[in-house]
Amino acid sequence: MKSYRIAVLPGDGIGREVIPVGTDVLNAAASHSAFTLAFTQFPWGCDFYLRHGRMMDADAVEQLLKFDAIYLGAIGDPQVPDHISAGELLLPLRRRLVQYVNLRPVRLLPGITSPLAGRGAADIDIVCVRENSEGEYCGLGGRVHSGTPDELAEQTGVFTRRGIERIARYGFRLASTRPRKLLASATKSNALQHSMMLWDEVVEQVSKDFPDVSYRKYHVDALAARMITHPQTLDTILCSNLFGDILTDIGSAISGSLGVAPSGNINPERTTPSMFEPIHGSAPDIAGKGIANPVAAIWAGAMMLDHLGERAAHDRILAAIERVFAEGQIKTPDLGGRATTSQMGAAIAQALTEGSRQPA
Ligand code: NAD
Ligand code: IPM
Ligand code: MN
Repeated sequence: MKSYRIAVLPGDGIGREVIPVGTDVLNAAASHSAFTLAFTQFPWGCDFYLRHGRMMDADAVEQLLKFDAIYLGAIGDPQVPDHISAGELLLPLRRRLVQYVNLRPVRLLPGITSPLAGRGAADIDIVCVRENSEGEYCGLGGRVHSGTPDELAEQTGVFTRRGIERIARYGFRLASTRPRKLLASATKSNALQHSMMLWDEVVEQVSKDFPDVSYRKYHVDALAARMITHPQTLDTILCSNLFGDILTDIGSAISGSLGVAPSGNINPERTTPSMFEPIHGSAPDIAGKGIANPVAAIWAGAMMLDHLGERAAHDRILAAIERVFAEGQIKTPDLGGRATTSQMGAAIAQALTEGSRQPA
């Protein structure tokens, strides 16, 4: 029987509440399939930082290279500045593991009420392909004259032809497999005349290799509005690192909650492990209460199984989530219900088991 080695980094806050529920559901999926999952837990995150002065072991990347995939909760704690927690764990892992695609499905699942009036599941079915290795997040810049009236900060965006081309190819390839075959590229070339002009030129060139995909570019401000006013016109969204960060929080909000939206940090060439996580953070405002919605983490786990080649197990987990939402009895408070994290997880695991028992 196939066995996959999974590095588990629950991280901080609600990451530690949703990831154990996620691994339970993944194990339930594995028990009805021809594979097993070998989970190895790592304590890296803000507590580790407070004890050791670093967010993760010095050889963390070397350790992680031994795994087939990484399953991450959330990183961030009010006691540690966010630029350290994200900047010394999450972002370096995405970069150093060459996870240059950040894949974020945005779907309104049946049974969930969108804050957009009158919208149902058929209206919101988008996938966001976010560049994940460069752009506004490249980390270059600095500050001088600290604390003086002349203080200056520079934050550089780096966009490379190679970086844009590889994310654009991934986006178009994905769009060409989807029924509507639409790709919307998020630009801002009216104001960012260097970086976003290169973005537009390279995306346009790549679009020529995908004549079956209808391609349009939108300035990102107008695209953000369109996600609210006409989400049904959007299918695949291709965007830079920062634009994608913002657009996908809008995406999760219109899909009902930050608590349902998953993400995959993917190395399409598979030379290093890919990393799957909810798009939400550690939610210090609700951490420790046992009420975080575990669906984003469970769905991210399903994406991980899909990446590992276990598409049927992915589909069974999604079907179980959809069944629990459609029945509508068990919902966490972010979705207007009263269920706890573990009740929600148990309902999904049970739906999965029942679904797996039914004849195909
Ligand atoms: P957040 O996503 O943690 O929380 C935003 C809001 O959404 C909060 O009100 C929170 O309660 C709610 N929320 C988030 N996930 C939820 C869930 N599963 N169920 C129910 N409600 C949920 O964003 P933030 O407050 O901006 O950031 C908090 C910390 O998390 C910061 O340190 C930030 O840097 C970090 N962060 C980490 C990641 C990550 O690890 N990938 C992502 C985003 C933010
Ligand atoms: C996300 C997060 C991160 C990002 C932060 C924590 C750096 O918001 O995964 O969306 O901006 O990518
Ligand atoms: Mn974000």
